[in-house]
Amino acid sequence: MKLLITGLAGFIGHAVARRLSGRGHQIVGIDNLNDYYDVTLKQARLDDLAGCEDVRFVRLDLADKEGMAALFAEHGFEQVIHLAAQAGVRYSLDNPHAYTDANLVGHLNVLEGCRHHRVAHLVYASSSSVYGMNDEVPFATRDAVDHPVSLYAATKKANELMAHAYSHLYDIPTTGLRFFTVYGPWGRPDMAMFRFTKAILDGQPIDVYNHGNMSRDFTYIDDIVEGIVRILGVIPRRNPQWNAQDATPDSSSAPYALYNIGHGSPVSLMDFVHAVEAAIGKQAICNFLPMQPGDVPRTWADTEALFLATGHRPQVKVEEGARRFMAWYRDYYGV
Ligand SMILES: NC(=O)c1ccc[n+]([C@@H]2O[C@H](COP(=O)([O-])OP(=O)(O)OC[C@H]3O[C@@H](n4cnc5c(N)ncnc54)[C@H](O)[C@@H]3O)[C@@H](O)[C@H]2O)c1
Repeated sequence: MKLLITGLAGFIGHAVARRLSGRGHQIVGIDNLNDYYDVTLKQARLDDLAGCEDVRFVRLDLADKEGMAALFAEHGFEQVIHLAAQAGVRYSLDNPHAYTDANLVGHLNVLEGCRHHRVAHLVYASSSSVYGMNDEVPFATRDAVDHPVSLYAATKKANELMAHAYSHLYDIPTTGLRFFTVYGPWGRPDMAMFRFTKAILDGQPIDVYNHGNMSRDFTYIDDIVEGIVRILGVIPRRNPQWNAQDATPDSSSAPYALYNIGHGSPVSLMDFVHAVEAAIGKQAICNFLPMQPGDVPRTWADTEALFLATGHRPQVKVEEGARRFMAWYRDYYGV
């Protein structure tokens, strides 16, 4: 199969490419290698893929309309895994235009490529942040998500709406995956496990928001990758029986699907800190702070729909995931 992976140098893109390499696909991966976080780490992920002869890297910006059109025209992709985006909630407060460029213009360019080259399945990254102010847990894709609390979340919700319109208009099967706080080896330096690890090893305090009264459905990278790979083969179909009166937000007459991929069990922030401390073998110095604008107090994924569609239930608990992350971190940074 000819596959496009966007965000190849990113945390999840690199892991998906590693997993799919060697399985008879021809993979093209794009990334603009922006400096939102350490570019050396992005380059190192690409270097890690250098031995994969079936993975080709093209440096390209999603927002480059002509470049994206030429990429799709040249390769005739059968399936697309669209992971490139401007991620991060806090960064969206100061850099809103980065989100509209990558997540709205970029997403449109991907949809246009799929439209003009008859892509058989577009799987794209959404986010648990779309649940915004919802307080009924666990968060389910059948719930309405109309109250985002960050621009990042709003762009991810917009991605789902745009995908729905293209599925409806042009018969493109699309599947949106709402990832819940992903962590693990090769992870993102802007995220908690990475920041906490670095600070604890350096003897620096860690910032603990909302005085530790938060919980997250932390999801190990291998569980995310497993979900993505399995969902690639679950192509949504049109549903002529669909009826708007009885519809839930995740259903449609169009070939359109949405799933959560989360571990399915929330972990309190302080238990998470303890798991990181245990994996390092050193105590954290906690700097307790108020809630950050744009943050939500808890996330918790209802994973039943993913299980019914794919048979996959995320497995790795945070204590084990923290140990695996630490092994990678010590090896990568030589500490
Ligand atoms: N990691 C998580 O916890 C998490 C949670 C929910 C959703 N997501 C979503 O999953 C996807 C992958 O996330 P990740 O954690 O791997 O993030 P990441 O930042 O590590 O990877 C994204 C990659 O996309 C690239 N990119 C960004 N803008 C681009 C552009 N305009 N053109 C080309 N490349 C561009 C970046 O350089 C980066 O390498 C994103 O869409 C993100 O919003 C991630």
